[in-house]
Amino acid sequence: MRAWKIGLIGTGWWSEKHLNAWSRITNAQVTALCDLSREKLARRGTAYGIPPQRQYDRADEMLSEAEIDIVDIVTGPDTHLALVRQAAAAGKHILCQKPFARTEAEAREMVELARAAGVRLMVAENWRWLSRFQRIKRLLDEGRVGKLHAIRYIHSDYYTPRMKPEIALPQPFFRDMPRLLFYEMGAHWYDTWRFLFGTPSRLYAETMTVSPYVRGEDAGIVALGYEDHYGYMDMSWATRQKLDAPLGDEVGPVHLEQLIVDGEKGTIKLYADGAIGFVAMDGGGESRLLEPHPLDHEDSHLRLQAHMIECIERGEPFQTSGEDNLATLRMMFGTYESAANHTPVFFDREERRQA
Ligand SMILES: NC(=O)c1ccc[n+]([C@@H]2O[C@H](COP(=O)([O-])OP(=O)(O)OC[C@H]3O[C@@H](n4cnc5c(N)ncnc54)[C@H](O)[C@@H]3O)[C@@H](O)[C@H]2O)c1
Repeated sequence: MRAWKIGLIGTGWWSEKHLNAWSRITNAQVTALCDLSREKLARRGTAYGIPPQRQYDRADEMLSEAEIDIVDIVTGPDTHLALVRQAAAAGKHILCQKPFARTEAEAREMVELARAAGVRLMVAENWRWLSRFQRIKRLLDEGRVGKLHAIRYIHSDYYTPRMKPEIALPQPFFRDMPRLLFYEMGAHWYDTWRFLFGTPSRLYAETMTVSPYVRGEDAGIVALGYEDHYGYMDMSWATRQKLDAPLGDEVGPVHLEQLIVDGEKGTIKLYADGAIGFVAMDGGGESRLLEPHPLDHEDSHLRLQAHMIECIERGEPFQTSGEDNLATLRMMFGTYESAANHTPVFFDREERRQA
């Protein structure tokens, strides 16, 4: 069996999830690491058995010297275009973290670079691969709710009002991002929404910044319209549903998500603890379909990365190819347009076809 050789760029906070997943995929092997920070590079190199001669502080050196088939980009969006350009020019397949791009034009450029170079490009949208959303997708595909009526998606609890300058954050760059919630998390939400319900025909958004410690928006609502049903998102990092008081000095991500899907045959309910229930329209109580569980990020990355390898081997399309992600970005950037102009944003037929 062929082992696909992976060169990972960006050995920061989230790279651990990628590296753990690669180590669980039998026909994949991380052969090289790259980061601007020698310290972060050495830390991950030691933990994952990558020798110092395969630890690079320059992507071009890694690409020309190391044996690599796939480049896994785990850096922020500001670096994606340059790194995708280099990886495509070197003839490597690419996995790129979300948010995929700073603008839609930049995203289209990356898709074109990969196409012209004949390499495969996938965006690391792991949220749809979480157990809870995989389960809901199966329920929808089985027709459990029938024709959709209304979809309600609620997210809370990271709690930006506690992000005082002196408090350490896993991702301190959150404080300075001019677009925060619907850029950083919106990539996940819109990808997952499209996975479950398809791309809507229009949206309308209101956003605001509540915490004095972040620059970008940390709360917002989005109404999403379809021909015969509707949905809304009520997302806030400034709302504390369950976060324990007193808050303390340690800040880690807390993501509570609830989803209610109403249809002609019944209602799916995703609770904040990860449990899923179903209430049939024709009577009877709620049945439990999935037990409470934490967000299984590690497993979501295993499914995502295994999907990438499988699709490359079989020559099949990725669920979240760079091209597919253009529709996700259209919803994300449309949210900012709508909120700034107080007008709805419409998605044309071509964008919806990518759903
Ligand atoms: N899918 C998810 O659930 C999830 C979760 C967390 C973060 N992310 C995304 O992953 C990305 C990275 O996030 P993070 O929290 O790990 O950030 P981080 O700052 O901890 O790590 C990024 C690393 O990239 C390195 N880097 C930057 N530019 C580079 C370059 N040109 N060459 C080599 N190395 C370079 C930095 O030195 C840093 O170590 C972000 O886009 C973030 O949105 C996704």
